[in-house]
Amino acid sequence: MNQSEMIIRETSSQAALAAADLFAKTARECVSHEGFFTVAVSGGSTPRPMHRFLAEEPYRSEVPWPKTHLFWVDERCVSFEDPASNYGLARKDFLDQVPIPQNQVYPIPIEASPKEGAEIYQRVLIDFFHLQKGESPVFDLIFLGTGKDGHTASLFQGQKALGEMERLVVCVKGGAPNVSRITMTFPVLNHAKRIIFMVSGKNKADIVKTILEFPEARVPAQRVQPLNGNLTWLLDSESASRLSKECSHEEY
Ligand code: 6PG
Repeated sequence: MNQSEMIIRETSSQAALAAADLFAKTARECVSHEGFFTVAVSGGSTPRPMHRFLAEEPYRSEVPWPKTHLFWVDERCVSFEDPASNYGLARKDFLDQVPIPQNQVYPIPIEASPKEGAEIYQRVLIDFFHLQKGESPVFDLIFLGTGKDGHTASLFQGQKALGEMERLVVCVKGGAPNVSRITMTFPVLNHAKRIIFMVSGKNKADIVKTILEFPEARVPAQRVQPLNGNLTWLLDSESASRLSKECSHEEY
């Protein structure tokens, strides 16, 4: 039975703190039930304050890092030193400061061609989750963001990748920066046990309203519909500011 909920915090920093809390809480629950925690993070600027909180106390101690396996939802095909690199920023913001075993951090490979990188990462998922043909991985938690155009991951309007139902990982070109990218596909996202959409800032108020109140808009982020998982919208007051009253209820 899937559920959706909305959490609204006054400021983006308070929303990031709530996200770090949810990361730690979910990690502890998964490790106590399953013995390990699988999470995939997105790139861009919104997740960075949460990542920086994770590198600080209490989260540095609270998260069971030695039992955590960290993946990426998508990556730009740039060097890890490039400021556009999702992995590079995550290393800087928290991975270099927390005791997660290096062999439990799975960056999307950017050394080969985008096509080869997508194939390699798909193989990483198949091997880690012991998938049979046609199966999708079931992540404990996936963090997503959305652009002002309603894209999520690196799944952009009008692209073939939106309709990809077989492959787990594909390569595309687009976004800002407009580079080749490697991205998980909707089957992977929608099999997650829990998805947290983190959106903040006034400039996202319109797209948040469109996504949550105008299903006919059919923007990519609206294709995120967990099959058996929970969907949480974690907003700050600015990004939630255009929502109708009945839509912006808080259940946290
Ligand atoms: C990426 C992200 C992307 C991001 C949105 C929002 O690699 O670009 O995965 O989907 O979540 O573009 O980005 P901001 O948080 O920077 O607004």
